[in-house]
Order: sequence, then structure tokens, then C-alpha cells
Amino acid sequence: MTNVVLITGASSGFGTEFSRIFASKGHNLLIVARSEDKLTALKKSLEKRYGIKVFVLSQDLSIPDAAHRVEEFVNENNLAVDILINNAGFGDYGRFVDSDISKLSNMIDLNDRSLVEMTHTFLPSMVKNGKGKILNVASIASFEAGPQMAVYYASKAFVLSFTESLSEELRDTGVTLTALCPGPTDTGFSSAAQMPAGRFANMFRFTKPLDVAKYGYIALMKGQVIAIPGILNRLAIIAVKLLPRAFVRKAVGILQK
Ligand SMILES: NC(=O)c1ccc[n+]([C@@H]2O[C@H](COP(=O)([O-])OP(=O)(O)OC[C@H]3O[C@@H](n4cnc5c(N)ncnc54)[C@H](OP(=O)(O)O)[C@@H]3O)[C@@H](O)[C@H]2O)c1
Repeated sequence: MTNVVLITGASSGFGTEFSRIFASKGHNLLIVARSEDKLTALKKSLEKRYGIKVFVLSQDLSIPDAAHRVEEFVNENNLAVDILINNAGFGDYGRFVDSDISKLSNMIDLNDRSLVEMTHTFLPSMVKNGKGKILNVASIASFEAGPQMAVYYASKAFVLSFTESLSEELRDTGVTLTALCPGPTDTGFSSAAQMPAGRFANMFRFTKPLDVAKYGYIALMKGQVIAIPGILNRLAIIAVKLLPRAFVRKAVGILQK
């Protein structure tokens, strides 16, 4: 049996950086996303550089039964998942009333349903073995309402709440859960979300995905439940907690335009 770190959304952004970090620490990987070419290129470079084994699964995780297909791949290849990084996700910019409802439903399927099903699939063996780690990629959007990206913000509030609840349920089992809550970061996110260039909402993407993934890796290893990379993001969340909700949603609405 081969132990692997299972990383979703590994073909780009945070997922690629997580793959590099875990590979550099000597972990074998199972990397999942839709873009097989990008995953295969990553596999080749990581195996060559670090001498580890990388398994590739091209899978749309938003479809029903996706977690079951990942489980089948794991069983067929005699793998054991002791670390799970639920990272795949996307956003969609624009007024809800004008949005494509099938894209929004797909977003909920990927950002929330798939994350829950992947966790439910791989958690039991971790609990049985008395050890395991799960990192769910939430967002600073998890802490507030987000006019112009209403469904995305709500989907990330779900991820944070789910992760916090499970971390309590699993206290003393040897399994830890971490919600990583990044702020705006320079990945493929803004183009996937079709965020207009030059708007305030898209102007502050200076943070590099490697820095966020490094922060997430350390938090995961420590078993920290909520991890917010960047001092400005941490200050913003303190402000969100102190200010009236009506003020916060209005301010976010203005910033998002
Ligand atoms: N960047 C930010 O500002 C930011 C801030 C906070 C939170 N986040 C969160 O960070 C996570 C990673 O995003 P990112 O910023 O790294 O963006 P990204 O560069 O666009 O990466 C998204 C990853 O998700 C995968 N993915 C998308 N749809 C998928 C599907 N249906 N099935 C399987 N995989 C799918 C993509 O691969 P394929 O296209 O190959 O499938 C890609 O590997 C997301 O959950 C996002 O919400 C991002």
C-alpha cells in the first residue's frame, strides 16, 4: 500500500503549490483536477525533482458520484490517503439576478457538496487509524456577505462552518481539520470568476500562491483549525467581527463593484 497526500485542484494556483510543498517533504501524491495535461506535466517535474511517486486522476469533481470515483481510483491503485487537501473551487462575479444559475449550482456542487463527500469518503480510515489531516480551502469571504459574488461568499461560509464543526466532533481522534482562509491571491481564480480587470475587487492580488500554501502547510501540520494568511487579512477579519453587519455588507458591496 502507498500512502499519498490527496490534493484537489492541483493543476493551478494553490493546488500546484501545495503539490510542490508536499513533494519537497518526501510525500507521495494523488493529484486531481480536470486538466490532465497540466497534472501530467506537474507529475513529471515533481517525480524527477523529488524522487517521489505522483498518481494523476483527471476528474470533474462537481459531478455526482465524483468522490466515489476518486475512492475507486485509490482502491484500484492500492493507495492510502492520510492527508486530504480539499482545494478545488471557483467563484463567479456579477449580480445574482443576471447570473447563469447552472454555473452557480455547479459552484455549490464543487465548493461544498464535493468537499463534504470527499471528506466523508476519506475520513473513516483516518479515524480508524487514529491519525490524519484534512485541509479545506475556505476564504476571507467565509466571514462576511459578498454582494456581486453572493453564492461564492456563501459557499465559503459553508466550508468554514463545516470545518469548525467537524474539528470539534473529531477532537481526541488523532484527526485534525484546518480551514485555510486566504485573501485575494494571484492565481487563476479571478479569470475563472470573470472578475473585470481594473475594478477595485480585482486590484489587490499581490499575494503569491506559494506564500499562502506554505502558511496553510504549517497550519495543517500544527492542527490549527482556522488559518488566515497575511496580517492585513487578519486585521480585516477582526474589523468585520467588530463592525455592524449592515455596515460590513454595504462596504463589501462597494469594494466589489
Ligand atoms: N485566489 C484567490 O484569491 C482565492 C482566495 C480565497 C480562496 N480561494 C480558493 O482557493 C481554491 C483554489 O483556487 P485558486 O485560487 O488556486 O484558483 P485556480 O488557479 O483557478 O485553481 C482552481 C483549481 O480548481 C480546479 N477545478 C476547477 N473546477 C474543477 C472541477 N469541476 N473539478 C475538479 N477540479 C476543478 C482547477 O483545475 P481544472 O480547471 O484543471 O479542473 C484548478 O486546479 C478555491 O477553492 C478558491 O475558491 C482563492
